Amino acid sequence: MILPIYLYGQPVLRETAKDIDRNYPELNELIANMFETMDAADGVGLAAPQIGLPIRVVVISLDVLSDEMPEYKGFRRAYINAHIVETGDEMATMEEGCLSLPGLHENVKRPTKVHVRYLDQDFNEHDEWVEGYLARVMQHEFDHLDGHVFVDRISPLRRQMDKHKLASMVDGKVRCGYKVKAVKR
Ligand code: NI
Repeated sequence: MILPIYLYGQPVLRETAKDIDRNYPELNELIANMFETMDAADGVGLAAPQIGLPIRVVVISLDVLSDEMPEYKGFRRAYINAHIVETGDEMATMEEGCLSLPGLHENVKRPTKVHVRYLDQDFNEHDEWVEGYLARVMQHEFDHLDGHVFVDRISPLRRQMDKHKLASMVDGKVRCGYKVKAVKR
């Protein structure tokens, strides 16, 4: 089932999301719905707060990039209770966008390597260092679990220039090819 994506301005995007346990109701169905919602919106990642749930669940699918980055062939994973433990010192700048902020793209500087802890969909524990494009997407998505969106990480000047676009998202006056839920309207 395709779910509406919560737009910038929705309070749930500013909450610190909570860990869940195995008893979380219909988790597999929720994850399937998140993948379906992300695919329908042509995204590579989606965090549960973006569908209105303040829980630490993320889906990432990088297969679409596999022509250029063959290591991501068939890459499609869910991350449960996802946390960033530490980051490397080296930084890189890359353009980012977000399904909750349609039509906005900005360069964001982030560490190139990240140490993450999470459970997979079978609740197996993982503790690993990640780099490359996946590290970038993980940081963007895991940020959502701590109440951050990518425009929090751009310069105040750039954010000022995006002010009107951000305000129109709060008002729900955006054009995009998928269902959204704005604060107003
Ligand atoms: Ni996002």
